[in-house]
Amino acid sequence: MIYDYIIIGSGIAGLNAARLIPKSKKVLILCKKSPWECNTFYAQGGIATAVDDTDISNHIQDTLTAGANYNNKEAVEVLSKNSLECIEDLIDNGLEFDLNSEGELAFTKEAAHSRSRILHADGDATGRMMHLFLLSQCKHDIETNAVVNDLLIHDGICYGVQYFVSETEEKTVYAHNTIIASGGIGSIYKYHTNSTAIAGEVQGICVEKGLALKDMEMMQFHPTVFKGTSFARKALLSEALRGEGAYIVDENDYRFLFDYHIDGELAPRDVVSRAIFDYFHKTKLQIYLSFDNFEKNFFRKRFPNIYANLNDLGYDLPFEKVPISPAFHYAMGGIETDINAKVLDVKNLYAIGEAACSGVHGANRLASNSLLEGVVFSKVAVEDSLKKNFKISCENYTNIIKSYVRNQEIDKSIKDRLRVLMWENAAIVRNSSSLEKTIKEVDNFLNEKVGRLLFLRLLTARSILEAAMNRKESLGAHFISKK
Ligand code: FAD
Ligand code: SIN
Repeated sequence: MIYDYIIIGSGIAGLNAARLIPKSKKVLILCKKSPWECNTFYAQGGIATAVDDTDISNHIQDTLTAGANYNNKEAVEVLSKNSLECIEDLIDNGLEFDLNSEGELAFTKEAAHSRSRILHADGDATGRMMHLFLLSQCKHDIETNAVVNDLLIHDGICYGVQYFVSETEEKTVYAHNTIIASGGIGSIYKYHTNSTAIAGEVQGICVEKGLALKDMEMMQFHPTVFKGTSFARKALLSEALRGEGAYIVDENDYRFLFDYHIDGELAPRDVVSRAIFDYFHKTKLQIYLSFDNFEKNFFRKRFPNIYANLNDLGYDLPFEKVPISPAFHYAMGGIETDINAKVLDVKNLYAIGEAACSGVHGANRLASNSLLEGVVFSKVAVEDSLKKNFKISCENYTNIIKSYVRNQEIDKSIKDRLRVLMWENAAIVRNSSSLEKTIKEVDNFLNEKVGRLLFLRLLTARSILEAAMNRKESLGAHFISKK
């Protein structure tokens, strides 16, 4: 059987694409673990949108300024101009955002936004609410525990995908259109905020197939994650907390962010993360997020999940300050697409959401523009593919279908080493000589007999290192120390 669409990923980008593809089409959605094990589910702060027509130009400008003007302006325009219609469509179909006391949509503020324009749901559980809504709307099949390990590409056409269904079994499926919505790369770093399902394998497949990745040096580190646990995945303390009054202090209660930027805690994310990194390395003082601007009942109602999580960890909010550190959060770079979300040089392959790089985020993503990107560019991809109505003929796919080994004994130690290497050498501050050494070490790993999934992860990591090596000057989230 040939599907009309295969969608790799069940986050906001994949599920919204599925929602917009007519029920009459045969669609298969693949995801690595359960459908909700994705970054979308964990999103806290909200979804950015132009508030009305007059705000579009300001939203565009804020996105460009945060992105160090390295953005693809056309993509930013698509994002913002479509935001009103896309949000309205979600609301009309039953998604409920939080309302203010007048019963109107409640907009919050996050760093580098010139006004409040972020919608949220269930306080600080926007991702979970949006994901539940999209799952409830899903009229197509979802196959869980399906780990894509290859794209069937031949002569500029994608015929479908190959994937593991267990440790040893694989399947191959064919489709007229394939949409990559497999998210970012979080598990490549030692400390991150991401779902454990997110490890960048599909970006690695693209490297192997010679498809272009773009801006892979542009990795975003969130300034405020809770520092007190030993897990690689760190609990996020949403930027909306700072947007509504939380602030960053050292152990002596000194608010040092203003020494780095006029906007203090509300400077662009890359600036705040770098400032925390620099201040900590200079002073060795512990750094905290303070909530003492908040009244308890308001805090508990506005941020119910953060309140409950930190309460479980023994913190009495908003009265106690909480130790923080930056951690890997988001990949601005990804699979290069054109303005229709189509992967370059392949007729019927699309990439959307965090996996893609249309250039919309430039060198540093503006807070809460990612959920919006997922919604807008999934719509763009579906519209383009429906219009083109491309059909494959399976008999034209003449490549041999390989059989892959999913994991090998040595994988665990190499994976752990890779995470440390990336955290130490390709994180907030980089330098050329350590990047060069790290590339050599990754190349050695690539020559080992590693499992297929680690091999792909290594290719993606290498693309980050190489892109960082090649950009000699600092820009946005990419900071090169000359020392
Ligand atoms: P994801 O939601 O990550 O989904 C990826 C999907 O791909 C998953 O289903 C996964 O199983 C699947 N997948 C991955 N690899 C494979 C494979 N090899 N084979 C098969 N399937 C695969 N952004 C905002 O705009 N606002 C916020 O408030 C916000 N808060 C955030 C909070 C946290 C803690 C995190 C981690 C991120 C946050 N972000 C936020 C960023 C945003 O959530 C993500 O960028 C966005 O949800 C990505 O959506 P996606 O659909 O592209 O990918
Ligand atoms: C947050 O809530 O701080 C995350 C927002 C984002 O990543 O856009």
